[in-house]
Amino acid sequence: MRDYNEFISEVLITEESLQQRIRELGKEISADYAGQKILLICILRGGVLFLTDLMRQIDVPTAIEFMAVSSYGVGKRSSGGDVRITLDLGTCIEDRNVILVEDIIDSGHTIAAVLEMLATRRPKSLVVCTLLDKKERREVEVPVRYCGFEIENKFVFGYGLDIDDYYRNLPFIGVVDLNKYQPG
Ligand code: PRP
Repeated sequence: MRDYNEFISEVLITEESLQQRIRELGKEISADYAGQKILLICILRGGVLFLTDLMRQIDVPTAIEFMAVSSYGVGKRSSGGDVRITLDLGTCIEDRNVILVEDIIDSGHTIAAVLEMLATRRPKSLVVCTLLDKKERREVEVPVRYCGFEIENKFVFGYGLDIDDYYRNLPFIGVVDLNKYQPG
């Protein structure tokens, strides 16, 4: 496995900036839901690091759940419209305050499909919290209640985001130099 230093072109968001912004988001969520309980739903796998850091910055009673979805097309770098649940929630969300936690919104297809599916289960409230938002890539409109950083259309990795399944463990967000990265 190659060291990321061989293909990183820049550190887009440092560990310190990520953690600082996550502290702010945690405060905002805690204030918005003061006196209430919330359920954070993490969409696997990219959102895991963000979820675990974010939940530690929230001071209202917080439950967590996980779900996984797949979009049609192997190896695609952006999802199409066909999104299916591959791992469903282990709990009922009716009458609960739900916050969907994502690492990144790109075309918007994934989160739009998940929102539509979850809305049918009649939560009390349902909003989106994404760490990164590539707004210029949007193909479907998505209501984003909480956003960490709006970013340009660059191929980013680290802090949950993978390159061919690896490098999710890095504590910062980097940009891949596609001229230097070769799979394998
Ligand atoms: C990424 C990301 C979002 C989705 C965003 O997941 O975590 O779920 O793509 O793209 P979209 O807005 O164009 O739908 P991915 O399918 O790469 O799975 P992963 O989280 O397991 O890496």
